[in-house]
Amino acid sequence: MSPLSDLPDYRHQDAPVSQRFGRIAARPVVMEVKNLGMVYDSAKGPVAALNDISFAVRRREFITVIGASGCGKSTLIRILAGLEAQTSGEVLLDGKPVHAPGSDRGMVFQSYTLFPWLTVRQNVMFGLKMKGYSSTKAGAEAKLWVDMVGLSQFMDHYPHELSGGMKQRVAIARALANQPRVLLMDEPFGALDAQTRCQMQGYLLEIWKNVDVTIIFITHDLDEAIYLADRIIVLEARPGRIAEIIEVPVARPRHVEQLLEPKFLATRKRLDELIHPRAASHLEPLPVFRMTVVGDDVE
Ligand SMILES: Nc1ncnc2c1ncn2[C@@H]1O[C@H](COP(=O)(O)OP(=O)(O)O)[C@@H](O)[C@H]1O
Ligand SMILES: [Mg+2]
Repeated sequence: MSPLSDLPDYRHQDAPVSQRFGRIAARPVVMEVKNLGMVYDSAKGPVAALNDISFAVRRREFITVIGASGCGKSTLIRILAGLEAQTSGEVLLDGKPVHAPGSDRGMVFQSYTLFPWLTVRQNVMFGLKMKGYSSTKAGAEAKLWVDMVGLSQFMDHYPHELSGGMKQRVAIARALANQPRVLLMDEPFGALDAQTRCQMQGYLLEIWKNVDVTIIFITHDLDEAIYLADRIIVLEARPGRIAEIIEVPVARPRHVEQLLEPKFLATRKRLDELIHPRAASHLEPLPVFRMTVVGDDVE
């Protein structure tokens, strides 16, 4: 099967932004989150990680989720993946409740998760063989996906021979090879240096343009959240709940020069206000330590 979508590119990427959102809204809902809540039991008592989270994601939409550290982003994505069970509310994928992991959801984590003893091709084949594909068929399919992420020349390399960015491209190929309905990404570029991260954002948008997949992408980086998304879900902490859902008013296709456009900067300012409210006045004063007395009585 070709990794290319059988759909025409009905996102009309060059269309004015106002038309783009109308088109997205007309598409079917793929994933729906209804009144989701999560309370963890901890030694110090219950921890409310998520409270009353509701949103719907439409086919082939690119959603980013942003929020300060500890606001429940990973909890949310683990519940969407079926890796963890919520304490209230529900998650629907194509109308059916999610209770466990499934091949209809692909996952890419921040940490490198490739099997070190398998080559790039074998890593990508792994899930396909689990699904019952013959080695020949899985190998041919894996090749398509490795080609798509631009790593044809590294097909028979092992993960330790790849850079961090390349490993994450293989992880994306591996997740997409199962043809998931939704690709769930938890800060996948968080461990990469700024330049590689920027390249990876470009690669991801290119891949997404060619594949019929819906993406939910967690980040705590403001520029990344805007640059990638159709809509941004902004979470606030304790308990994690939705502060705002922002439609990104920046045209596609995206390019780095847009980071300086007024619409981009205005969105960034809004995100900053939501994520770092009155930051300075909220800082608790730190105890003052005298680290050294050198200088007091030095001649
Ligand atoms: N397994 C767990 N047990 C208890 N508390 C948890 C557990 N996982 C996460 N938490 C708490 O839930 C909150 C949200 O965590 P997390 O989803 O990892 O946030 P984020 O990914 O936004 O940094 C934090 O207060 C964290 O300490
Ligand atoms: Mg996290």
